[in-house]
Amino acid sequence: MLDKTGRKIDYLRVSLTDRCNLRCIYCMPEEGIPKKTHDDIVRFENFEKVISAFATLGIKKVRFTGGEPLILNGIEKLIKFTSSLPSIEDVSLTTNGILLYDKVEELKKAGLNRVNISLDTLNKEKYKKITRGGDISKVLSAIEKCISIDLKPVKINVVLMKGINDDEVEDFINLTKAMPVQVRFIELMPIGEGLKFYEKSSMKIDEIIDNHKELIHIKDKSNVASVYKIEGAKGTVGFISPISCKFCNNCNRIRLTSTGSIKPCLHSHDEISLKPYFNDEKMLKKVIEDAIYNKPDEHHLAEDKKSQTDKMMYQIGG
Ligand code: GTP
Ligand code: 5AD
Ligand code: SF4
Repeated sequence: MLDKTGRKIDYLRVSLTDRCNLRCIYCMPEEGIPKKTHDDIVRFENFEKVISAFATLGIKKVRFTGGEPLILNGIEKLIKFTSSLPSIEDVSLTTNGILLYDKVEELKKAGLNRVNISLDTLNKEKYKKITRGGDISKVLSAIEKCISIDLKPVKINVVLMKGINDDEVEDFINLTKAMPVQVRFIELMPIGEGLKFYEKSSMKIDEIIDNHKELIHIKDKSNVASVYKIEGAKGTVGFISPISCKFCNNCNRIRLTSTGSIKPCLHSHDEISLKPYFNDEKMLKKVIEDAIYNKPDEHHLAEDKKSQTDKMMYQIGG
């Protein structure tokens, strides 16, 4: 489906839950989040209806995010359902990796094609601090397992923060020499808890690219990351600059929140609830079509330094 500016929208990101088993300092408040009411929770059968409707309207890629999607029982069934839809070519997951080791084989069998794993440091103690209690060894063994079962490409998301993990850029880049992964450095976005860190800790990706002449720019299918490689390395290094170099012109994405609303753009305020239409396939498609058509042209983060969304990152799933 095309939106009104002619962009082809074929990538749906579904936030399955706002809950998470970690509380990263730039994402979740220390005290955690209020529990959703029963009415707010969307059952898997309704996610299935919505994903089917999107698929008939031209969605080819579906990414499941959270919060943390792997805390939900039965996610493998939803992945199986999604990957079995005729038009769906790619099913992926964004996860913190804590629960991945035990589940990944089953998920792959269900049709999962790719995983993106959040890992902001390689240091055990620092990981504990950033995630407020997480055990890095679980994530590292999950990454190894994904590689060993050939779930390619494994992408590692590193949100860059001055004074917190900028001293590890070198180590992350070097990781790609021997490991077939894509390490992606992400600019911190001024959204939710990230706002508190933004003034003090945000960094421009360009500085890092300029300081690492060994990185050679390569062509990659990704439309959010600029991808580089050290000669002879097994992996690659990606840079995601949602603020300084926005990719709105080529955006092919539409989002579904864990409360069942369409979010046409990560940073827009508007949301369209699909709840009233879960049992009305015709209306469901019509409302989705309208939402896609009216997707905002671009965000204005670079000028405003504040996202227009009133949602937190754990509610949107990135
Ligand atoms: P693939 O390209 O399918 O591998 O996924 P991805 O890199 O978009 O997904 P992931 O969930 O790993 O997100 C990586 C980072 O990109 C996160 O910090 C997201 O918030 C950011 N991001 C993803 N989509 C958008 C978008 O539409 N706009 C902006 N500004 N940032 C985005
Ligand atoms: N800015 C940039 N990235 C963020 N993420 C969470 N909050 C922010 C933020 N404020 C990242 C997570 C995860 C991805 C989905 O989004 O670390 O890797
Ligand atoms: Fe959980 Fe991801 Fe937010 Fe960390 S960044 S608290 S892992 S949702």
